[in-house]
Amino acid sequence: MSEAKLYPVPAEVADYALLNREQYERMYRRSLEEPESFWAEQAEEFLTWFRKWDRVSNNDLSKGQIRWFEGGKLNVSYNCLDRHLEQNGERAALIWEGDEPDQSKTISYRELHAEVCRCANVLKERGVRKGDRVCVYMPMIPEAVVAMLACTRIGAVHSVVFGGFSPSALRDRIQDSDCQVVITSDEGVRGGRTVPLKENVEKALAECPNVHTVLTVRRTGKDVTWVDSRDVWYHEAIQSASAECEPEQMDAEDPLFILYTSGSTGKPKGVLHTTGGYLLQTAMTFKYVFDYHDGEIYWCTADVGWVTGHSYIVYGPLANGATSLVFEGVPTYPDAGRFWQVVDKHKVNIFYTAPTAIRALMGQGEEPVKQYSRQSLRILGTVGEPINPEAWEWYYRVVGDERCRIVDTWWQTETGAIMISALPGAIDLKPGSATLPFFGVEPQLVDNDGNVLEGATDGNLCLTRAWPSMMRTIYGDHERFMNTYLTHYTGKYFTGDGARRDADGYYWITGRVDDVLNISGHRMGTAEVESALVLHDKVAEAAVVGFPHDVKGQGIYCYVTLVKGAEPSEELKKELVDLVRKEIGAIAKPDVIQWAPGLPKTRSGKIMRRILRKVATNELDNLGDTSTLADPSVVDELIENRANR
Ligand code: WTA
Repeated sequence: MSEAKLYPVPAEVADYALLNREQYERMYRRSLEEPESFWAEQAEEFLTWFRKWDRVSNNDLSKGQIRWFEGGKLNVSYNCLDRHLEQNGERAALIWEGDEPDQSKTISYRELHAEVCRCANVLKERGVRKGDRVCVYMPMIPEAVVAMLACTRIGAVHSVVFGGFSPSALRDRIQDSDCQVVITSDEGVRGGRTVPLKENVEKALAECPNVHTVLTVRRTGKDVTWVDSRDVWYHEAIQSASAECEPEQMDAEDPLFILYTSGSTGKPKGVLHTTGGYLLQTAMTFKYVFDYHDGEIYWCTADVGWVTGHSYIVYGPLANGATSLVFEGVPTYPDAGRFWQVVDKHKVNIFYTAPTAIRALMGQGEEPVKQYSRQSLRILGTVGEPINPEAWEWYYRVVGDERCRIVDTWWQTETGAIMISALPGAIDLKPGSATLPFFGVEPQLVDNDGNVLEGATDGNLCLTRAWPSMMRTIYGDHERFMNTYLTHYTGKYFTGDGARRDADGYYWITGRVDDVLNISGHRMGTAEVESALVLHDKVAEAAVVGFPHDVKGQGIYCYVTLVKGAEPSEELKKELVDLVRKEIGAIAKPDVIQWAPGLPKTRSGKIMRRILRKVATNELDNLGDTSTLADPSVVDELIENRANR
């Protein structure tokens, strides 16, 4: 690979930024050499504790034991709200920008605090107690943030389910963590269309007998099904609730939330995060990675249904007393200039989005960007998937006018907070590289046998030591937690990603090395799509792989074997696409379905996905060894019938 272009930190940026290169290096070194005192200092600086911890860390990755700030007591909503009231009570905590460009509202810290307390009291009245799980299935409206913070106020564990998930996906998640309360909205509104959230909840609850309360926010006023004993209107309940609610004193290791994410096998995993370490590291990364200066306006375009929304719309920004913009809509509604219109309207300084959005907008040309001044922008971030250098350059040149620093942030639902990223004033940029590790993060590249690889090389990306915002377990399945992350390479956390390290020590994430797809920055397990496909009674077997897609990063390619006697047809393809949408949601919609009379299997019956990936990607001259296949001729047949894309 040719030498990547370098964008050094300009001197004036280094001067203005919170950290310059030398400070970064000094802090980084300390974070590894004296982790206990380093993290203790950060925990003092960033958080307010009701009681100090007894022990900074108590970790043993080989046992899957991760504990930070044991014995310390704090409350997340107190840290995100109460402690800002005295100095900054009138500052905007949230700016809500609705789907239509003429809808927006600003909510001060004082107002948000009162609303969160009211909502917390409503939950209490409905019997929610510390440790109970509450499912949040909401559109991007301020009440989604209120619901999350209200849970943290009383020590309930939220499980936010992305509003684009289907009723069956919602049902599975409610059941898995035994949520007894669901907070939702009559409908969501996105890109001029409505999403029937309450109706979806209704369908999901047909098989969730333990749910005793559904709290519904009125967004559109649509008529919805109502069960008096179970259903509560948010606006009615809030009215009579007190705006004061003592924050529950939580232990640093008490569960904070569960967030489901896709793995390479089986059903989605409930990633469990706890209170102290998570809040510390999201607060700290927010401040340093986005170089947040007091009073700035910050906008992350993610949905609160994903970890990016949790950590960088809600917890990181609010813990810092920042103003966080919550956007209900989509990048291209009413037109492709929407992001930049919103940036100008609210004078956004820091903007954080996904490569897929950048690529989609790139396809619409420069005109919609150049219509707006974007003068307020200072920092541009990306997350969710590798950003190709072309998209990076476009972001830098067209959106940022070559004036803004770009932070390409690599992290995962499991890591809770950003792990590898540039810092605006400290780290020179290379388009396409997430650059260098954050404090306390020690990446390592290993080969498939676990040998540690040194210097400039490719490898499987591991993190060698536990960090405060690391997931603690998979809810209800610690063994799966161990097997997924900690036993591949004993004593290390395995990320599931491949990476390259260059001669400057920069990391270049090359993508997943397991069967997890990344569709428009959304994680999707191939097994989940396969399970949906085989529900059709004409489908005998299905194998799903990813293939490169210009806008989405990866697309979904399905090989489908029909049962004897079933005839392939365009009609049937459509049925299968609809089935996957119905089972999982629109994000899992297959891009390609290819009929496969046979799948390439080893003699022991294992599907050789490597070959399926090559066929989908059209890398036909490089199929590798096919001699171990039970029936090598199926490969020729697959190639011959390759779907045209
Ligand atoms: C991928 C999203 C390259 C990666 C925060 C990871 C990235 C998965 C980047 C986690 C990045 C995320 N560059 N790849 N900057 N950020 N990824 O759990 O494959 O939804 O393992 O968390 O997204 O996705 P998740």
